[in-house]
Amino acid sequence: MSGLVTRRSSGSVAGAARFPDVRLRRNRRTPALRDMVRETTLSPRNLIYPLFVTHGRDVRASISSMPGQYQLSLDHLMEEVVETERLGIPAVLLFGIPEHKDHLGTQAYDQHGIIQEAIVAIKETVPDMVVVTDVCLCEFTDHGHCGVLLDDGVVDNDATLELLARTAVSQASAGADIVAPSAMMDGQIAALRAGLDAAGQSDTPIMAYASKFASAFYGPFRVAAESAPRSGDRRAYQMDGANGREALRELEQDVLEGADMLMVKPALAYLDVLAKARERFDLPIAAYNVSGEYAMLKAAGANGWVDEQAAMMEMLTSIKRAGADMIITYFAKDAARLLRGG
Ligand code: PBG
Repeated sequence: MSGLVTRRSSGSVAGAARFPDVRLRRNRRTPALRDMVRETTLSPRNLIYPLFVTHGRDVRASISSMPGQYQLSLDHLMEEVVETERLGIPAVLLFGIPEHKDHLGTQAYDQHGIIQEAIVAIKETVPDMVVVTDVCLCEFTDHGHCGVLLDDGVVDNDATLELLARTAVSQASAGADIVAPSAMMDGQIAALRAGLDAAGQSDTPIMAYASKFASAFYGPFRVAAESAPRSGDRRAYQMDGANGREALRELEQDVLEGADMLMVKPALAYLDVLAKARERFDLPIAAYNVSGEYAMLKAAGANGWVDEQAAMMEMLTSIKRAGADMIITYFAKDAARLLRGG
């Protein structure tokens, strides 16, 4: 036993002597050297900032589950979008809290719904900002599910497709640059593409929430968007977190249906899926650094248990290293400020 240990350690020293280039620390000696050999660099241009928009005037309501994030009325939303652009972040992702929710989520596809109004306002004020819209019904239905709920508690796939397509068309007509379906219905990319094309919106790209897992990390978001399901859960349509191969099938299916960009969500607990998606597909890939990932770090940072800024940059860099071209993150403004040197 001790012979084995000795042989191994002396073997590695001998190896180092024979092959001097095994000294990996050489390239890490100074900050300048480390800068030169850094493989992954994060830029504000990689980031997409999610925002929550609500009715009313002068509303800036803190979201208890997500410190530093707010439900914003249109006037304050505009201030945020102007600031987002100033920081060099190219895109925002919009979520809406409607005045009324109903069984079929009609405010999602109302041309005067909160999201549609927000899109028009942003495009008037900051025309170059890329506006991405979430295409889903859960914020707009009184039951909180992502589609049409049948009496037996099942979400009707095909009836939902029609409403998702109407939602995407109304958002694109209002001026959305990218529509991002997140309901996890089968066939939703094909349904959106057909609907958009028929409405003369064939230039609007679809960012597919292609592999979206049923995740406890969405908890803080559901407080923010007031969209938790009243009964049951989303496991009959969102994916089982145990399934990496099935995630690739979901991604592939969305490519076949005509997705222009793919998304993996959540990001941190699914970096293996993101890395495989990067290897397998040549489409631009987004990763969603979700609300629970944000809230965990905010809580630990506020308690002084981790260095929030350093951990934030490490997380975002890891997501990019794993293969994301775009990172949707509530940290977008904080990260952009750091990257720009304050
Ligand atoms: C809508 C939607 C959700 C998120 C994005 N779009 C919630 C859900 O599916 O329950 C979660 C985002 C986050 O947690 O930051 N379906």
